[in-house]
Amino acid sequence: MNLKVKSFEDYKETYKKSVERPEEFWSGIAEEFKWRKKWDKVLSWDFKGPDVKWFEGGKLNITENCLDRHIAELGDKPAIIWEPNDPNEAYRMLSYKQLLFNVEQFSNVLKNNGVVKGDRICIYLPMVPELAIAVLACARIGAIHSVVFGGFSAQSIADRIKDAQCKLVITADGSFRGTKIIELKDIVDDALGQCPSVEKVIVLTRTRTPVSMIKGRDVWWEDEIKKVETQGNPHFPAEEMDAEDMLFILYTSGSTGSPKGVVHTCGGYMVYTGYTFANTFQYEQGDVYFCTADIGWITGHSYIVYGPLSQGATSLMFEGIPTYPDAGRLWDIVKKHQVNILYTAPTAIRSLMGAGDDFVDGKDFSSIKTLGSVGEPINEEAWKWFDEKIGHGQAPIVDTYWQTETGGFIISPIAGITPTIPSYAMFPQPGIQLALMDEQGKEIAGNNVSGNLCVKFPWPGMLRTTYGDHERCRKTYFAAYPNMYFTGDGCLRDQDGYYRITGRVDDVLNVSGHRIGTAEVEDAINKHSDVVESAVVGYPHAIKGQGIYAFVIAGDHQKDEELMRGDINKTVSRIIGAIAKPDKIQFVDGLPKTRSGKIMRRILRKIAEGDTTNLGDTSTLLDPEVVERIKKGAEKLR
Ligand code: PRX
Repeated sequence: MNLKVKSFEDYKETYKKSVERPEEFWSGIAEEFKWRKKWDKVLSWDFKGPDVKWFEGGKLNITENCLDRHIAELGDKPAIIWEPNDPNEAYRMLSYKQLLFNVEQFSNVLKNNGVVKGDRICIYLPMVPELAIAVLACARIGAIHSVVFGGFSAQSIADRIKDAQCKLVITADGSFRGTKIIELKDIVDDALGQCPSVEKVIVLTRTRTPVSMIKGRDVWWEDEIKKVETQGNPHFPAEEMDAEDMLFILYTSGSTGSPKGVVHTCGGYMVYTGYTFANTFQYEQGDVYFCTADIGWITGHSYIVYGPLSQGATSLMFEGIPTYPDAGRLWDIVKKHQVNILYTAPTAIRSLMGAGDDFVDGKDFSSIKTLGSVGEPINEEAWKWFDEKIGHGQAPIVDTYWQTETGGFIISPIAGITPTIPSYAMFPQPGIQLALMDEQGKEIAGNNVSGNLCVKFPWPGMLRTTYGDHERCRKTYFAAYPNMYFTGDGCLRDQDGYYRITGRVDDVLNVSGHRIGTAEVEDAINKHSDVVESAVVGYPHAIKGQGIYAFVIAGDHQKDEELMRGDINKTVSRIIGAIAKPDKIQFVDGLPKTRSGKIMRRILRKIAEGDTTNLGDTSTLLDPEVVERIKKGAEKLR
């Protein structure tokens, strides 16, 4: 396939063309995919709505692009290599033929259980091949999947199911994570009390921990597969989809309110993830590609499942955690499966770096050609360690900047083609027209400048709406700057025109690469019966990138601070999930508020960062004294 640029010059020319003649550029890329019917119109758009349509009138099914079209040439090639949590358990390899067979079988299971095109399906599964199979089967039947990450609580699942009115849930008895078993079905059961829309639950066996199975509602995955076998026809013709039909919903946190369901559509998302995967990693047939993310996040959707498979790649998925049985696990997997491209997150790099070089030195990295980083800004020290220890100075690192909303990379080097600099995402991807904006809403021209990062022209992988609430989509992404998509990130363009992401400029945290809204955490803390009010901010954390710092005004029921911290943590785990537990909880007797009642987070952020020398102007505060007391309390916590 002809999706890859060949040189830096070629990148520059490609980029120029993509900006000057975007429709011609993207239709050229889209032609490399399989369409049942070609589109009538490449693009129509208006960021005011927003109303963005790519490849209108085109008909396709993304699974024909990810599976069927590879069978003739790549049928026996591994599509998925699966490495289990326990290194002593046998790994699995699914060829393209097998994966297609399994997806067709499971599409029949979905059909037998009443699923039709347009239904919403919640998937809450461990990182096993059946997760990819379930996702692809939904896409094949035209059902809209909403995958929920295994670390979210029953309440979070219920909120997501209710928002999308899911008809069916696909889960497992449990999941293995290191030495722990997480009882997924139990968690789903806790959620379902609130979810009358759910008619059926399909339960995969993984840990074989006891589960409650309710007659008429819950069925075993394996039994349903047997039924399809008895029915005798394993095939399932892919449903014909419009380019702009919904493919999936993925919930993500913002600065206000509950998580929003970001919606991606079939045609544009397919083209964008396939193109950026092939081009950015410069994937070559035969390469083994290993992305350590979970399919519960956008990285797994775009760059474990859809992007790699649409390109006929071998995608390695890993069930466990990088530190089990020890901090050398990822490197052992690299050797065992001869991984050529390794794509991971700064938080993993930092934690493995912290475990000491004994787990790295002497390991075999000879197969590694390319490295990738995603999810948060990568600090220079981690970049250099990754480069030296894992890449042996030979493997380009692509620091890919993107978001759930962008569908795929929007700023990134291209492996081995464009230059790289530690902690820089470097260059816009072809088709991406960036703008740095100042606080007054003016675009900042020239180099050596910083501003709020926006995109001023549509690209095929961008979100189309937030499920059930289009106005929220407009307000969140398209209202801050007219005719621009606003990312929520700050960005520097240096003297050479290279881009460096400086982090979120809103109240969204990035904790171990997990996106969490401060308002969500506050809401959860405030649900605790003895909490009067709280304010949550982020602070720099050596491993997690950002930690969660909560300032809490407690009532007078609980006098023991340690017990109260435990109770607050439990409450947050119950409501959102353990990933949102505050790292630090400071009890305070008041919060710095303006006379109009607004919490001055700027001050709290500084205190949480331990930088209290210059707190700026505090004269507008209702009670300036409160700051001094909070400062004293913070010192004790440090
Ligand atoms: O702040 C940016 C950060 O992660 C945010 C998006 O989070 P999410 O939607 O969960 O997607 C994560 C995986 C794509 C962004 O707004 N971010 C992501 N990648 C980078 C990054 N920050 C700096 N450098 C990156 N490479």
